[in-house]
Amino acid sequence: MGKEVIGLDTLTLRPVGYVRSPYQQPREVPRGPGAQHSAEGVLEILPEFEAGLKDIEGFSHLFVIWAFDRSEGFELVGTPPTDDRPHGVFATRSPRRPNPIALTVVELLRRDGARLHVRGVDMLEGTPILDIKPYLSGVAPEHLRRGWLDEAEARAANARG
Ligand SMILES: C[S@@+](CC[C@H](N)C(=O)[O-])C[C@H]1O[C@@H](n2cnc3c(N)ncnc32)[C@H](O)[C@@H]1O
Repeated sequence: MGKEVIGLDTLTLRPVGYVRSPYQQPREVPRGPGAQHSAEGVLEILPEFEAGLKDIEGFSHLFVIWAFDRSEGFELVGTPPTDDRPHGVFATRSPRRPNPIALTVVELLRRDGARLHVRGVDMLEGTPILDIKPYLSGVAPEHLRRGWLDEAEARAANARG
């Protein structure tokens, strides 16, 4: 049973597993306006954490919290591939963040022991997984606002004619 007190000034995280992904290089991951993430991969959980997967099979989708372990530094304002205008890092999904933590929603296809076969990976091969949680969305689509993304997509659609 883990019982250490976590001090936020010295927070250290250890991987609970690693992603098996078809993507070896950042440029292979679909990006930009309308990018779809339908690639399949495997979340390989380390043997010492496998018991924590009990009952996960009942969930169709999962939040995967992972580390941008191949990012260097951060940029507080940057221009994402989905727009030609700059935005604050906390209004984007940039890999270059003060804390290099990422979040991806994947579809759980099946469990094979400590291996979760999933669809929707945007991580590189060997990416460390920090945590997994069931995805439970309580926000109705009509209440969601998508900020600058809606505006950028509208401009891109106009430009295409
Ligand atoms: C825009 S980020 C979004 C990631 C996640 N869905 C999120 O919202 O936090 C996705 C990009 O991260 C990059 N990436 C994937 N795995 C990475 C890793 N282990 N280290 C650094 N960058 C990574 C890929 O180039 C990919 O295009």
